[in-house]
Parts: sequence; C-alpha cells; structure tokens
Amino acid sequence: MSLASAIKEARDLVLEKKEITIISHIDADGIASEAILSQAFSRAGIEIKSVFVRQLEPLTMSRVPKDSSFKVFSDLGAGHQQLLEEKGLALDEVLILDHHISQPGKINYHQVNTLQYNYSKMSASGLCYLLAREIDSANTDLAKISTIGNVGDMMAREDGGLVGPARDIVEDGILYGNIEARKDIGFYGLSTRPVYLCLTFHDDPFIPGISNNQSAAIKFIEKTGVRLKENGRFLVWEDMTFDEQKKFTSSFIQYLLANNVQVDKFFIEHYMFPDEPPRTSLRNAQEFATLLNACGRWSKPRVGADVCRGDRGAAYRDAQYMLTNHRAVIRELLEYIIDTGVTELSHLQYIDTGDKYPDTIVGIGAGMALSKLNRRKPILVICSLPEEPEVCKVSMRTNSQMVEEGLDLQDALCRASQEVGGGGGGHKIAAGAYISKGSEERFIGRVNEILRGQLHPKSSANR
Ligand code: C5P
Repeated sequence: MSLASAIKEARDLVLEKKEITIISHIDADGIASEAILSQAFSRAGIEIKSVFVRQLEPLTMSRVPKDSSFKVFSDLGAGHQQLLEEKGLALDEVLILDHHISQPGKINYHQVNTLQYNYSKMSASGLCYLLAREIDSANTDLAKISTIGNVGDMMAREDGGLVGPARDIVEDGILYGNIEARKDIGFYGLSTRPVYLCLTFHDDPFIPGISNNQSAAIKFIEKTGVRLKENGRFLVWEDMTFDEQKKFTSSFIQYLLANNVQVDKFFIEHYMFPDEPPRTSLRNAQEFATLLNACGRWSKPRVGADVCRGDRGAAYRDAQYMLTNHRAVIRELLEYIIDTGVTELSHLQYIDTGDKYPDTIVGIGAGMALSKLNRRKPILVICSLPEEPEVCKVSMRTNSQMVEEGLDLQDALCRASQEVGGGGGGHKIAAGAYISKGSEERFIGRVNEILRGQLHPKSSANR
C-alpha cells in the first residue's frame, strides 16, 4: 500500500469516530502532532481529549484512559504495541502515527509509519498533517505546525533543509501563505539572537577563530562594515537590510575560504513565518521548535500545543517563561560540564551528572559543551532519574564532521543498551537511551567499542 492510501484508510477510520483521545510525545514533534490532530479532529466535529507522555512505559500507560474513545498515538506507539495490548486495547480502538521503529505484538494495530515507506526524513507531525489534509483540504494552514515538528525532530539537519514529503508540506504552507522558505546563512536564531552571538555559538561546522570567541565575532562584524547595533540594541539577522546581509555573507564566505572550511555547509533552507511578529521565537521553524521543546522538557507540553493552536496570551507568556528558564539551566549545565571535566576513552568522552539536572535537558547541554571539548570524540552524559532509581538516562551528541566519518550514535546506543537490557534511539548525531543502574561501566565500554568499529578506516580518530 502507498503512503497516500494508508492516509486515506486512516482518515476513514477516524472520521467514523465521535470521541478520540490523542496520546502524544512531549518533544517538539509530539507537541506539533497533537496540535495538528486536535485541530483537524475538532474541525471535523469529533470530540477530543489529549494526553502527553515522556515515553510509553507501564507507568505512563495508566494515563491512557480506559474509556470508549478511539485512541490515536502520535510520535510514539510503534515501538510499544505490546503495552497497548496489555492495556486491553483492541484492534479497532487504535491508530498509530509514528516514525520510530515498529515492534509488532500479537495485535496488528492500524499504523501509518514513515519507515514503512522509506521516508526517514519525515517525522510524526508530517504524517499528522497528511491525515489532517486528507480529512479536509482546508487544513493546509497546519502545514506550518508540521514544518516546526519536522525541523524540531532534526529532519532538516543532514540535507541542508527538508526533503521529500516533508518538503512538499512546506510547499502547502507557502501556497497557503504562512511559510516562506529561504536559503540563507545557517545560523540558529535569525529572529531573536544578535548576529554576533549567532557567530559565537555556531559550532557545527566550527568556524576557526570565531566559534566560542565573542570578541572575535564582534570584530568580524565590525570589519564587514555592517551595523552591529542600532539605538543601543544589537541587531538580529532579520533586522539587517538585504544589502547588509549580502555584504556580511560575502565577507563570511571569503573568511571561510581563507580558513579552508567547506562553504556550502554554512547555507541551509530556513522556514520563516511571515504571519508571526518579527524578533520573536515564533518567527521561524527552528526557534519555534525550541520554544516547544522548552515547554515539553519542563513538563508543560500543553502550553506549547496551545501556542501552536494560536494562543498568544497566557500560553505564549508561559512558554516564553519556560524558554528563559530552559536557557538559563542549560547555560548552568554547560558550565558544570566544562568545570567538572569529562573522562576520555579512546572514542568517546563522558560525564555523570547524577541527579543535578533533569534527564530531559542533559543532552542539550552536552551538545553545547562538545565544541569546547574534544570535538572528535562524541560526548556521553549519564544521569539518574529521581523518580526511577533503578534506571539511568544516557544522552549522546556528536557533530556532522564525525557523522561523515562514520559515526552513528543511534546505532551505537541501541546496540549497547540492548546488550545491558535497556533501550535507546534517536539519530546519528544525537541519541539517547535508558539503561539499568549498575550497568553503566559495561555499557560505556561497549559504546566506545561500537564507535571505534563505525569509523571509516581513513578517519584520523581511528588511528
Ligand atoms: O534525550 P535526548 O535529548 O538525549 O534525546 C536525543 C534523541 O534521542 C531524541 O531524538 C530522542 O527522541 C531520542 N531518544 C530515543 N530513545 C531514548 C532516548 C532518546 O529515541 N530512550
């Protein structure tokens, strides 16, 4: 069956229901998925309820109501169908919309999974959008939320932008008028981050002499002749005139060439939202996704979903507060990692942060710390979960250079965690796992071995 036919079947299944419970994940993709489904279902006159969970596990399954409502699992479910069976959910009570590896149980639940169609570059919010559009072609306004979910789930990370069906969804948004796709300098924070900080924090690829060096970044901007500030306020990329952006870009390219850095890696497709106010996190897909992640990782996914649904009052204020707090704690975590130092093995470096920081953010801090450490060795952070003392959470991050040299953190963490009775997943560049307490040393040793085996023979990290 094609993806289009599977989506049509899913539409027929949901349209005959009166009440639906959406069970979704707390990350940007899960929040975007819920926001899309809830609007598409309500617009079709279906009564909805929503539940957000960090992951499907026996404890969180108790939050899935035992009632007559039809259950739609988005951005989760595929890997935990056995739990749905144990919950007593029957074949005709469930639809799974997911992009994670499927673990079939005895019941063959209705499922649409991007992996069934070899679309590894589209996440669950893409599927939710396709379903929403199939329910009613007027739902193309939701292409924007789907794009936030796809970008938030790193689907644009490896190809300089979204590709395949996820990129087709962008076209729907462009036609509707709430997305502008723009090939531009690959900085994070075009709408809210002063340009000198975009330069300072840009570390993948690393900018020799500028990454992590604020004064060098400021000097570079001053030398290009574009404005650094206006009326005492530092300019963000969007504040610059077209001529300033052109001038900056051409000086930047010259600098990269002079430093033997591959230029094309610094240009990506950005998804901007012209219907949102300039200089806010709502203005582009990357920053909007961070806002959603901040809500989800601090246990307020519903606030993020309300912002996606258009709430620019209380929910937006709460989300901004979460984002400010999120950034402050990550900065603190970054300093903690650098000050405490990491332990280096031959092919990775690791640190145990104990219960000092929530497991939901240690990976983000690790990713930021990497450029200040040995960039050729992925960083692994291990932390404990106060509410589950028998379990440890592991987060790993590397950079695109090491992925090109063969590293695949998802593969490494999946294999090593399975060997110690845990489980993991994610992406080549960023992955996570849960393992049992006591197995840390064996697990880290195995990850190190697997990483060594992944590196291409010519990689200098392998010598
Ligand atoms: O939690 P963290 O930020 O380190 O997760 C990195 C990536 O790994 C995310 O895409 C997350 O969904 C994935 N992950 C996973 N299974 C886990 C932990 C994380 O698939 N047990």
